[in-house]
Amino acid sequence: MGALELHAEGIVVRFGGITAVSDVSLDARRSQVLGLIGPNGAGKTTLLNALSGFAPLSAGKVTFGDTDVTTRTPQWRARRGLVRSFQAVRVFEGLTVRENVEVGAVGTGRRRRAARGATVDLLALTGLGRLADRPASSLPAGQQRQLSLARALAARPVFLLLDEPAAGLDEGESEELAAAIRRIPTEFDAGVVLVEHDMSVVMKVCDRIQVLDHGSTIAVGERETIRTDPEVIRAYLGEQSTADGGEVGA
Ligand SMILES: Nc1ncnc2c1ncn2[C@@H]1O[C@H](COP(=O)(O)OP(=O)(O)OP(=O)(O)O)[C@@H](O)[C@H]1O
Ligand SMILES: [Mg+2]
Repeated sequence: MGALELHAEGIVVRFGGITAVSDVSLDARRSQVLGLIGPNGAGKTTLLNALSGFAPLSAGKVTFGDTDVTTRTPQWRARRGLVRSFQAVRVFEGLTVRENVEVGAVGTGRRRRAARGATVDLLALTGLGRLADRPASSLPAGQQRQLSLARALAARPVFLLLDEPAAGLDEGESEELAAAIRRIPTEFDAGVVLVEHDMSVVMKVCDRIQVLDHGSTIAVGERETIRTDPEVIRAYLGEQSTADGGEVGA
């Protein structure tokens, strides 16, 4: 398979009188983590929804590899590997940790044996291997978040679109999650589009970053370029650094 990139051009999403996303283009590469950041209400979640088919476009085009997927349903896109993970995705509480991941792996048509093998790898990536036989409901929040990441990966995504996966986690938990996300392109051959407010996570895992403000892109580029971009600091990082007491992405 050649490069299977995710590309969006001139995306516009309107809700009644509100333009949530206004003429935004995006390029995600399969070997990379693309960060999508910006203030509350900037249009990040709406853009993820536009990419995955959950938000109807008023204008624009989404292509996945050579295929125009603009009018395809979320299910159609997901079957081909464009997988959106929702913040509210819960683990199956009646199942063990291992069973939670196996359910995701079997759902993709893999044979039981292959699904078991994939599950072992995914539990190792997310640091849940030694907890495999525990009931999922017994895990603390950070590990449940890791488990939902493992389950999303079990669906063999080509691109995984994550909306604030570190929300509500403490610093240690966020760091572990960041380490797992960082390894997705190399170990699972999947690209990631990551919406995240936690700048320490963003700066640790993203290769490139796109910054939205009021529904428009105000900057896009390599991590280091974005970190020092005056417009980005004014619109977003300045506010973050005040909230965090000084440093950005330390
Ligand atoms: N279903 C909807 N109906 C009406 N307005 C919406 C809807 N979804 C989003 N909006 C509006 O679109 C704009 C962008 O919202 P969106 O949720 O995409 O922002 P965001 O960048 O994800 O913000 P946050 O960081 O708070 O999650 C906001 O003004 C929001 O109120
Ligand atoms: Mg959002």
